[in-house]
Amino acid sequence: MTRRVRTAILISGRGSNMAALLAAAGDTGYPAEIALVLSNRGDAAGLEHARGRGVPTSVVESRPFGRDREAFERAMEAALHGHGIELVALAGFMRVLTEGFVARWRDRLVNIHPSLLPAFRGLDTHARALAAGVKLHGCTVHLVRPGVDEGPILAQAAVPVLPDDTEADLAARVLAEEHRLYPAALAWLAAGLVRVEGERARIAAPAASGALANPLPGPASVRTSAPG
Ligand code: GAR
Repeated sequence: MTRRVRTAILISGRGSNMAALLAAAGDTGYPAEIALVLSNRGDAAGLEHARGRGVPTSVVESRPFGRDREAFERAMEAALHGHGIELVALAGFMRVLTEGFVARWRDRLVNIHPSLLPAFRGLDTHARALAAGVKLHGCTVHLVRPGVDEGPILAQAAVPVLPDDTEADLAARVLAEEHRLYPAALAWLAAGLVRVEGERARIAAPAASGALANPLPGPASVRTSAPG
């Protein structure tokens, strides 16, 4: 078996994507080994789950560093290097990283975002998708670049927005897809199947063909005006 890539997952809260990655990496054939779960908050619920699975955890509280993001990142990188980390997966990590950090981890730093990027960068993506009236929404796994929620896209999953959806309904539908998408995308990266060309990531994995549509296009006989 080829060597597994030592990977850290960075979290700030619940950690459900982290749990999905840990479950996938529980298979010894998975190309990434989760060697560290690091949180910038000691009260992140995901930490308990990681400890319960016997995964090394580390807490680097961001709050005491205030605006000194470089100092916070230096402390974080000491933990990453201490655990021999080669790849970093952000999973609900709610701190913006500096250009320096992003450059040092270029193409070894991956994020999941709850929208079909480049639509709805930033926060409150589900509420904004509902307000915009989009009919498809979803999630994106991408390599991290200095711009917030920017970088070559590895994979996306789309879900329908249904007429009576609340923000919670839509979030849950997207989250279920996040849990499927992230383990697959991280595996491609760890296995060396990703080639970055400019802003595009090319993946040596089967691609989908055909369209997703919502609502479904009906028969051509649908009336476009009331019968006269
Ligand atoms: C996920 O929906 C993730 O996509 C999102 O936060 C949630 C974390 O949930 N990330 C971002 O918004 C980052 N911009 P989790 O802690 O249960 O994985």
